[in-house]
Amino acid sequence: MRSLFITGATGFIGRSLLSSLDLRAYEIVYCLARRPLQPFKHSFRSENVQFVTGSLEQPETWAPLLTPATTVVHLAAATGKTAPERYFSVNTKGTESLLSACRKANSKNFLYVSSIAAKFPDKRRYPYARSKELAEEAVKRSGIRYTIIRPTVVIGRDAPLWQGLLRLARQPIILLPGDGRTRIQPIYIDDLVACLGSILDENIFADETFEVGGPEAIAIEDFIGAVHARMSGKRPKVIHVPLKPMLSLLGLLEPGLRHVLPVTAGQLSAFYQDGTIEPNRLFRRHSATMKRIPEMLNLVLNDE
Ligand SMILES: NC(=O)c1ccc[n+]([C@@H]2O[C@H](COP(=O)([O-])OP(=O)(O)OC[C@H]3O[C@@H](n4cnc5c(N)ncnc54)[C@H](OP(=O)(O)O)[C@@H]3O)[C@@H](O)[C@H]2O)c1
Repeated sequence: MRSLFITGATGFIGRSLLSSLDLRAYEIVYCLARRPLQPFKHSFRSENVQFVTGSLEQPETWAPLLTPATTVVHLAAATGKTAPERYFSVNTKGTESLLSACRKANSKNFLYVSSIAAKFPDKRRYPYARSKELAEEAVKRSGIRYTIIRPTVVIGRDAPLWQGLLRLARQPIILLPGDGRTRIQPIYIDDLVACLGSILDENIFADETFEVGGPEAIAIEDFIGAVHARMSGKRPKVIHVPLKPMLSLLGLLEPGLRHVLPVTAGQLSAFYQDGTIEPNRLFRRHSATMKRIPEMLNLVLNDE
């Protein structure tokens, strides 16, 4: 009987994944988190779900749980705004520790949730993207059977990224970094989780990387405009803010003031580097049933 070891199970994607999986297919499902959320933990009374408190940087707390029958789903990551070195210690070194423990335990399958940002051509100011790219490289050379998923921006009520876009779209006059033409391909959380579920259910571990986005790509200005129009009933007034000076200013301020800045230079990457996917067999299989942008907005904006 198989076992599952999920890192980042208490995060935005992890919570959704855990709710949608057929847990009976596994003898035991371990969920690693630094702080298991109590109400969330209690909603999983399934006898075979076990929360393990620990961090990726402390393999001694979780490595003994890995066996040859374990499939690992690696979602844990430093996301949002944090010090650059934290991205590398959690996302790159943490992934390397997990891979090393899997090798020792002879665990067979490794599902790594990376990010579309890993393929951005310019990662100089975006340590998160670079840390994910380095983690992907570690997965590929690990010798463990893997699947890497690179999600685009994931839309769901609790998604921090979505909340950021929503704050921007709510403004009566929108100060939009860049020319607004950069393309994004948002995916609804349930659709991403369906892709992850099918990889696990069908044991798709053939050392492949799949970029996964929703069925439609859209210019970021049109997306923000659609959100604004849904909330106010009219098109927004948009002022384009040149990116170069913004990036330089953020570069200067970030070292001391990162925690109070609304955005980092890295996070602005989405305004000048396309976050769209190369179609692939996983995407083609799921795209027909995925939610299109108006449907996603209906789901997340209902009570706004
Ligand atoms: N959301 C998106 O739009 C999006 C898009 C592309 C890719 N991704 C990727 O998808 C994955 C999940 O994203 P998410 O949105 O669910 O992120 P999230 O809500 O920020 O959750 C991150 C998870 O990682 C755990 N974690 C962080 N540092 C850890 C550490 N040192 N040791 C152990 N666990 C740690 C957190 O646990 P604690 O709460 O206990 O700290 C939490 O469960 C990430 O790898 C992210 O890069 C997300």
